[in-house]
Amino acid sequence: MAARIDPFVFAHEHFHEVVWMSQNTNHLFPADEVAKAVEGALREKRYEEYPFAPGLVELKELLRQDFGLDGASIGITAGGTEALYMIARSLLGPGDEVVASDPSYLIIHKFVALAGAQTVNLEIYAPPWRLTADRINEAITPKTKMLLLIDPLNPLGSGYPPEEVRAIAEIARDRKLLLLDDVTYRDFADRHTLAHPYAPENTLTVWSLSKNCGLAGLRLGGLMAAPALFDKVWKYNTNDLGVNVLAQWAGLAAMKAKPKAFPEIKRQTHKNQELIRAAVESVPGATLPVYPSQGNMFVIDISATGVSPEAVQAELLFGHKVFVRAGNYLSPKFGSRFVRVSFSNRQQDAEAFVKAFPAVMAKLRGG
Ligand SMILES: Cc1ncc(COP(=O)(O)O)c(C=O)c1O
Repeated sequence: MAARIDPFVFAHEHFHEVVWMSQNTNHLFPADEVAKAVEGALREKRYEEYPFAPGLVELKELLRQDFGLDGASIGITAGGTEALYMIARSLLGPGDEVVASDPSYLIIHKFVALAGAQTVNLEIYAPPWRLTADRINEAITPKTKMLLLIDPLNPLGSGYPPEEVRAIAEIARDRKLLLLDDVTYRDFADRHTLAHPYAPENTLTVWSLSKNCGLAGLRLGGLMAAPALFDKVWKYNTNDLGVNVLAQWAGLAAMKAKPKAFPEIKRQTHKNQELIRAAVESVPGATLPVYPSQGNMFVIDISATGVSPEAVQAELLFGHKVFVRAGNYLSPKFGSRFVRVSFSNRQQDAEAFVKAFPAVMAKLRGG
């Protein structure tokens, strides 16, 4: 019975009771400065006017400093998602191939398909749990137009070492391919390397304030690229009149607060990973392919338990109000083996998972 209820309908109906570990959202970013900025913009009735279409100048300046990509143009979109769509729409067409992975963030694959192109999904559900330059090289055909690098990788939590980012970027540069570098989770990584400096003419860097700054609901992200490449994409900007003004003021405040806020966010995120690991280790057959995660999520492999990810998702949510995601949303081939859990949450949320997960697994196994 319960499994027939749509999980998102249920979760939003029980918004405040649910422990949200399903969408890699961040529940640890301090609220004060962001709230003050949004309240100020509301009081000033900033919403009566269209925003300055290219985006708040100071916000762009902070992004420029944060990324340090000299000479790159910056575009602000309604979440990184809009930038990803525009990239696929503007740069890909029928017959083109994009070298990507499985598992992956499949919404990008959907946008590639909508452009008439197709992804070539290299299977990475085995060590090192990410793409390598060698495998990308082997997968390139005359039809290859773009490489997709998601670093850190949603859903596995793997991060790319600097030399691998460089090698992948150099493939793009030397073989005249586009490189889509999705760095949505980069602030959670112990170290992160941007691809752009190694292939400045080829790289499209997609950024987001949803996960690092905890602004997923405000929809703020965008694109950085060398001006010639940027302009090709920006022609397809659908939000010609600019991105939601309240979101931009929130983003500006969050970018100012980020350097001070992030050490504590990372500390709690690491602590939560440890707590979850202990719970996973207590369940026979459950394992963590990637630990520690370089993002704010990882997957729990439950293939050896005989329990389905959908059943775990349903029982955790409907029975315990803990929301995690079944793997089929993230992997056509391996989705039946794992659930994805995110953990940039308050410790009490991680503790709720720790309490519920072993009980759910025991129940579903009939134990
Ligand atoms: C890899 C990746 N890129 C982009 C996005 C979209 O982010 P946004 O909320 O900025 O649209 C997500 C969201 O989960 C993601 O995981």
